[in-house]
Amino acid sequence: MSAHIGVTGLAVMGANLARNLARNGFTVALHNRSVEKTDALLARHGQDGDFIRTETLQELVDSLQKPRRVLIMVKAGQPVDSVIEQLEPLLEPGDIIIDAGNSHYEDTRRREAALAKQNLHFVGIGVSGGEEGALNGPSIMPGGSKESYAALGPLLEKIAARVDGQPCCAWIGTDGAGHFVKMVHNGIEYADMQVIGEAFDLLRSGAGIEPAEQARIFAEWNTTDLASFLIEISAEVLGHVDANTGKPFVDVVVDAAGQKGTGRWTVISALELGSPTSGIAESVFARALSSQTDQRKLAQELLVGAEADIEVPATFVEDVRQALYASKLISYAQGLDMLTSAATEYGWNLKLDEIASLWRGGCIIRADLLKEITKAYAADEKPANLLFAPAFTTAIADVLPAWRRVVSTAVQLGIPVPVFSSSLAYYDGLRRKRLPAALIQGQRDLFGAHTYGRVDAEGSFHTLWGEDKSELDAVDTH
Ligand code: 6PG
Repeated sequence: MSAHIGVTGLAVMGANLARNLARNGFTVALHNRSVEKTDALLARHGQDGDFIRTETLQELVDSLQKPRRVLIMVKAGQPVDSVIEQLEPLLEPGDIIIDAGNSHYEDTRRREAALAKQNLHFVGIGVSGGEEGALNGPSIMPGGSKESYAALGPLLEKIAARVDGQPCCAWIGTDGAGHFVKMVHNGIEYADMQVIGEAFDLLRSGAGIEPAEQARIFAEWNTTDLASFLIEISAEVLGHVDANTGKPFVDVVVDAAGQKGTGRWTVISALELGSPTSGIAESVFARALSSQTDQRKLAQELLVGAEADIEVPATFVEDVRQALYASKLISYAQGLDMLTSAATEYGWNLKLDEIASLWRGGCIIRADLLKEITKAYAADEKPANLLFAPAFTTAIADVLPAWRRVVSTAVQLGIPVPVFSSSLAYYDGLRRKRLPAALIQGQRDLFGAHTYGRVDAEGSFHTLWGEDKSELDAVDTH
């Protein structure tokens, strides 16, 4: 018996992907640096399907059908390079190495280029859905060559989540495209989690609604156009009571958010691309601020808060729901816009309708909203920005008054809503006829002779600020 695929790295994610493959009828060769993990997996879940136990990478490679498919699930960074280095001499042209971890897309691009020289395929795949998704159906974002997808795609599509009979897996694009899209998925995930957090804070601190009652409100919201995995689990977390103290669980958890880095990567990449993903950036900064616990302690003693208590409007809960919807939509719009910029920069032909579609199931940001987003990008005329798709232009116009009310109430109450408010600023920034960028151009020209364009003429101009303020035409930009 030879295996369809080999998996090396059998911590939870690798083990669950291997089990998912086996449950779907594939023979899976297993390998782990320490064989105990392999044996533990076989002892506990050997009945999931056909597994081949191997002790070395040579054995793993020898047990595989050709072209060989070896899936690596180890910690991102150096450990991936180390496994590749060991595998490379054991493989033959046409074989495929798959990296299913949360690797940085630039690493994936580098590895793909290096292995292509040996005629080996290297495929970075984004896998979302956590441990549960890996086992029962994740959302999968594969990059690498189109040719490699022909040999790998059928396996991945079989183990992926399905929505309306469609697998949540599709070839994304060459080299690092899959990992890039997964990274942006995580950026949107950060923003989505933060806006839910802001809604929770507003309902608690603004309207005095306790977590148990909020659990009920969130569960109800999950039946509206906000319906999504993150709203659903937020209701569960909010409704949970700590067994030790009898207090709401959220009140006994330290309010300092951790992060492994994919949100930060998204923002760094957005800055490099010049892509205005302000909501995602604010959500990363909000986690960073929450973790500055020493400064926060001091600030509580030193810094004053809101001047006066104001009454929240009677419509507040519904207002917050609508503001949450608007801010969430902006996060998706910004993330997808960033994908458009990246496609140009890296020469990827990213199909936003397919990407939105494979995010509909299995992944952390799965949401009903993605159905409409898929439709928007499947239209003959693709919107330049998600907000320009007629369905969303209307949807956001409908919630705009509530969104503005919530942001201004939050500001008056001193409740920080960095993503609610920056998303609104993005919306207003996009739609305003004139922006103060004109003044910034004037400033730049004055102190640095950086030149400016004119609304009424082509070319670059410079004003002789230190002289007679006359204007030079068609100056060289520098
Ligand atoms: C997923 C998740 C997953 C993980 C991230 C986020 O799509 O399944 O995004 O990749 O939860 O590592 O983790 P942090 O919040 O720790 O950055």
